[in-house]
Amino acid sequence: MAPRSPPSAAARWAKPRPTNWRVLPLLLLLISAASLLLAIGFLQVALGGVLRRANALGRQCAPGLEGRSGGEDGAGHRRRIAIVSFSDEGGGRGPGRGRSFSGVGKAVAGNKQAYAARMGYVFVDAGGMVDHSRPPSWSKILAVRSQLPHYDWVFWNDADTMVMNPAISLETILHAAIGRTNLDASPDLVVTEDTNGVNAGVFFVRRSEWSDKFLQTWWNKTSFVRFGSTKSGDNDALKHLLRTLPAEELRAHVAVSPAQCLFNSYPWVPTLKSLHRLFTSPRTTWNGVYSDGDFLLHLAGLDDKKKWVFDMLDEMRPV
Ligand SMILES: *[C@@H]1O[C@H](CO)[C@@H](O)[C@H](O)[C@H]1NC(C)=O
Repeated sequence: MAPRSPPSAAARWAKPRPTNWRVLPLLLLLISAASLLLAIGFLQVALGGVLRRANALGRQCAPGLEGRSGGEDGAGHRRRIAIVSFSDEGGGRGPGRGRSFSGVGKAVAGNKQAYAARMGYVFVDAGGMVDHSRPPSWSKILAVRSQLPHYDWVFWNDADTMVMNPAISLETILHAAIGRTNLDASPDLVVTEDTNGVNAGVFFVRRSEWSDKFLQTWWNKTSFVRFGSTKSGDNDALKHLLRTLPAEELRAHVAVSPAQCLFNSYPWVPTLKSLHRLFTSPRTTWNGVYSDGDFLLHLAGLDDKKKWVFDMLDEMRPV
């Protein structure tokens, strides 16, 4: 049988087959979906650019944060401050391997070490201190508690954090968060809040009896321990603890930073989830999003931490 020559374009249009019409709604749907995705993608890129410039656009993480530095108060008294972290959290052990951090631990530790050296703090890598009966994240409590007797303040940093603006001192941050200059009296715990409430990834603890008892109580919240998910439970335990603290005690001992970006900024990632968050909690998102000039970047909840760390450290290279 001789092959039939293909019908000319004119012939095809002249005799539309009924199936063409049945495909039309599907085609329209596909075009609409593609346009919607394109629009969302465009919106996300545009929003990312705007959010990254939050500080240039007038956001203030704290008044007069820039330029004020140095670790002394009026009396010339220096405080001993330790930055405590595990440089290789998890190390591929246990759940959440997708978020594993191997290979970048050293880079992040170097970043913290350089900042501590510049400012006269001590960087403590408490990685050897992990209690493997719980997800490693819980051991931050043990690490902080073990260092507290030797310092005036301990600044806890999860492993997925980097100092992006080393010109800002921790004393300046504490003054801004506490709202006064006396760092030798309570509050004892200084935290930030994101759209989920208090974040346990980055916080300050002052050496005091209250702090020691608080850390013990936090560690004792064993019913919150979770295995096999991205949640290990220590953050939920902290939130529960703060929620159930008597109001008077909370007021006296715990300070929530007026702005998350004072010392715990999250990068903007173009996902539907973050877009949804931006529209449901615009103020909180704006106050917590990482913008150029912010002190600390925290890759909270992100998967591709390795790429983030090296990209951001590249950005920091002095020009
Ligand atoms: C925490 O638990 C330990 C061991 O069970 C106990 O000795 C300690 O008193 C508890 N501390 C607090 C503050 O609850």
